Amino acid sequence: MNTKTTTFFWLTSIAILLLSLIVSFHSSQYPSTTIRANIRRVVGAELSCKVGRKLGLEDIFCNVEDVIYKKHHSHHHHHHHRRQKSSCNETLNWSPDLKSSKKISVVMTVDTKGCANFSSIQKAIDAAPDFSRSWTLIMVDSGTYREKVVVNSNKTNIIIQGKGYRNTAVAWNDTANSTGGTNYSSTFAVPASNFVAYNISFVNTAPAPHPGESGGQAVAISVSGDQSAFYGCGFYGFQDTLNDARGRHYYKECFIQGSIDFIFGNARSLFE
Ligand SMILES: *[C@@H]1O[C@H](CO)[C@@H](O)[C@H](O)[C@H]1NC(C)=O
Ligand SMILES: *[C@@H]1O[C@H](CO)[C@@H](O)[C@H](O)[C@H]1NC(C)=O
Ligand SMILES: *[C@@H]1O[C@H](CO)[C@@H](O)[C@H](O)[C@H]1NC(C)=O
Ligand SMILES: *[C@@H]1O[C@H](CO)[C@@H](O)[C@H](O)[C@H]1NC(C)=O
Ligand SMILES: *[C@@H]1O[C@H](CO)[C@@H](O)[C@H](O)[C@H]1NC(C)=O
Ligand SMILES: *[C@@H]1O[C@H](CO)[C@@H](O)[C@H](O)[C@H]1NC(C)=O
Ligand SMILES: *[C@@H]1O[C@H](CO)[C@@H](O)[C@H](O)[C@H]1NC(C)=O
Repeated sequence: MNTKTTTFFWLTSIAILLLSLIVSFHSSQYPSTTIRANIRRVVGAELSCKVGRKLGLEDIFCNVEDVIYKKHHSHHHHHHHRRQKSSCNETLNWSPDLKSSKKISVVMTVDTKGCANFSSIQKAIDAAPDFSRSWTLIMVDSGTYREKVVVNSNKTNIIIQGKGYRNTAVAWNDTANSTGGTNYSSTFAVPASNFVAYNISFVNTAPAPHPGESGGQAVAISVSGDQSAFYGCGFYGFQDTLNDARGRHYYKECFIQGSIDFIFGNARSLFE
């Protein structure tokens, strides 16, 4: 993206924020739901949220509305309960083929809006039963989850399901330099066996290293458990994107991006 476009988007976002604040102060005599509706209509917060998502800046754009909502509440102490957003009744679609073909004993949801069981993928994994012999399904709504995740070896039989590799992503930006070794730079690490992922992306957002530069290895995912499978997933990075470390793995219809050595490791894997 060129600097002109970047500047344009920042100016637009600042303008939207200022306009939102004005609207919120002007309509403070109305109930909070009306304000929220007004903000949505007048400011088009959802539109800016969508634009922001395209740029990977959804945290900033999508929270504009929330910031205003909280500000309004802090001025009016008689509204103590944060009402559930109307979007909370949208169900996370659970693919019917999964439901019928696997024995799933625990289902958890993760989203960025505060409507699900968790707002962090790591927290959902931590809550999964240890050494489980039946499947735990973690459904993750659209959004970018900025966190470094480890599926420890005692978290067996986890299925993670996103809303499409272009919509749901887990992203971090460690490098070999920032962590003391390529092995520690991964955004997502899976020492656990029987890990399955559908329709989600694993991203390392560290910048591409200059040619010949050392320490820029930035792993998006490191898979060292046995019998892992990935369907319709995305793997994004530059140097050392996918550490297919060891075990038997299966990758089907995945998108893998990198600059050098972007698939490496000692696993026995099938990519199709
Ligand atoms: C969610 O709730 C809002 C208002 O409470 C309603 O207008 C909307 O139709 C509901 N959506 C679904 C998918 O049920
Ligand atoms: C997740 O949320 C659903 C709906 O609120 C609830 O029924 C379920 O028990 C929760 N699961 C966990 C593991 O918190
Ligand atoms: C699961 O593994 C983690 C990390 O190795 C460890 O801290 C934890 O105690 C283990 N839990 C069980 C129940 O073994
Ligand atoms: C990751 O990004 C954050 C801000 O986006 C930055 O402060 C941090 O230095 C980055 N880490 C590395 C290892 O580059
Ligand atoms: C993954 O996405 C594909 C394409 O949209 C869809 O057909 C499939 O049912 C999804 N699978 C799961 C488990 O969500
Ligand atoms: C990693 O650190 C070394 C030594 O400090 C430095 O020369 C190199 O440029 C760094 N690499 C990156 C990608 O920042
Ligand atoms: C990285 O992990 C692999 C196994 O996955 C191991 O063979 C290798 O020695 C490790 N490298 C470092 C620098 O720790």
